[in-house]
Amino acid sequence: MLSGGPPSGAGGPDGSTVQGGPHAPETGSGPPTPLRDAREPGPPWHGRRVALGVCGGIAAYKSVQVARDLTLLGASVDVVLTEAARNFVAPLSFEGVTGRGPLLDIFAVGGAAMHILLGGGADCVCVAPATADFIARAASGRASDLLTTVLVATGAPVVVAPAMNDRMYAHPRTRRNLARLEEVPHYHRVGPGDGRLAAGEGSGPGRMAEPAEIVDAVGRALGAGGELAGRRVLVTGGGTREPVDAVRYLGNRSSGKMAAALARAAWLRGAAVTLVTGPTSLAAPPGVAAIRVETAREMRDAVLDIVEEMDVAVHAAAVADYRPRSPLSDKLKRQEAGPGFALDLVANPDIAAESGTRMRSGSVSVGFALETSNLVARAAGKLAAKGFDLVVANPAGRPDAGFEADTNRITILGRDMPPRELPLMSKFAAAWQILDAVEALLPERQEASRG
Ligand code: CTP
Repeated sequence: MLSGGPPSGAGGPDGSTVQGGPHAPETGSGPPTPLRDAREPGPPWHGRRVALGVCGGIAAYKSVQVARDLTLLGASVDVVLTEAARNFVAPLSFEGVTGRGPLLDIFAVGGAAMHILLGGGADCVCVAPATADFIARAASGRASDLLTTVLVATGAPVVVAPAMNDRMYAHPRTRRNLARLEEVPHYHRVGPGDGRLAAGEGSGPGRMAEPAEIVDAVGRALGAGGELAGRRVLVTGGGTREPVDAVRYLGNRSSGKMAAALARAAWLRGAAVTLVTGPTSLAAPPGVAAIRVETAREMRDAVLDIVEEMDVAVHAAAVADYRPRSPLSDKLKRQEAGPGFALDLVANPDIAAESGTRMRSGSVSVGFALETSNLVARAAGKLAAKGFDLVVANPAGRPDAGFEADTNRITILGRDMPPRELPLMSKFAAAWQILDAVEALLPERQEASRG
């Protein structure tokens, strides 16, 4: 089934749209994400083979970026250029970024079995841009050039990124051809988005998905065989806001970046991901269902609504431990408050501890510990006290870790393992390491729940 990728432009550009009530999830369409540094630990795409088909449309120039990013992430990328594509972009451009000569012709000497080798050897076939003509040929199972022949010869997941003029995209024949492609198992569509088209064509639906979105869709297809594939993963993130009066709140400096990285990494590994997040300026990552809340009690309700269905819960939120007992409905006036006043605070529910008692057996629960001192000892205390399977300890008060930073220094603690201290890395790379630890635990936990 072609599971339409998140259409670009769904929701607000900052992802802040909340649809259908306080706990209705929005589906993340996320902005293009920055290129990850391949030198960091990250997606293990080394040794994975991607066949990248490029058809003849103006968006072909962006496919050079797709080929480059996939290569930087460790994949071996074999580019197949249709004859029409060569009018837009030269084979040498792709060779320059992949280090491999693109394949051009099914009838080239020595290329007789190329379609079978490429189709059979690929872990994923991606076609970007997929033009109206290519979609028509692929939908009817034609094998009229090297690219369509590779498609017929592969059982690997196929990611299709349509790109064309808005009138061509709206044409009933194109719609019918896309619908026919949707019937093919293991086909995934990414985009098209709604935006500027070729010069002189204005804007509208039909614009190819951005390279980062296409790379993520390929990553998700490559992650399809992992331990997290098909699992339900809940991530909490951001800080809660506890109202003091009509305009003020008690909050903290959590940015939600660690949770967004975790949600994105889990989606790339094939999971169905729900992110329950306090206020943040970040858009939900592509494919992730986001539920936006403000207070700890709203977060608790949203989490407890769904936690029983989850295979994994990662509690990355910075939940306010206390809230003002009686928030004022009006704005507190300085004259009324006088030279100083005390806030009467009452304890908030402990969301992680409460969820732990509701999660089904065999599931994995991960907590975070942000500490200014005695990091590992305090994190070990939380492991036991809140019934976590893993705790991720990170230091507070450093510019390169914890709240607001793009990087983190984490130590992963488990019940039967020595603490694993990891070096400084991006939050995405840290998320990937945390999910490695979750994946290592899942089969054991499931086995124990059966036994
Ligand atoms: N947490 C939670 N609900 C709360 C407080 C914390 O779910 N009311 C979760 C956090 O998301 C995190 C873990 O519990 O995964 C640890 O949070 P932290 O605030 O560090 O721990 P506390 O138990 O609140 O201890 P302290 O504030 O004393 O360090």
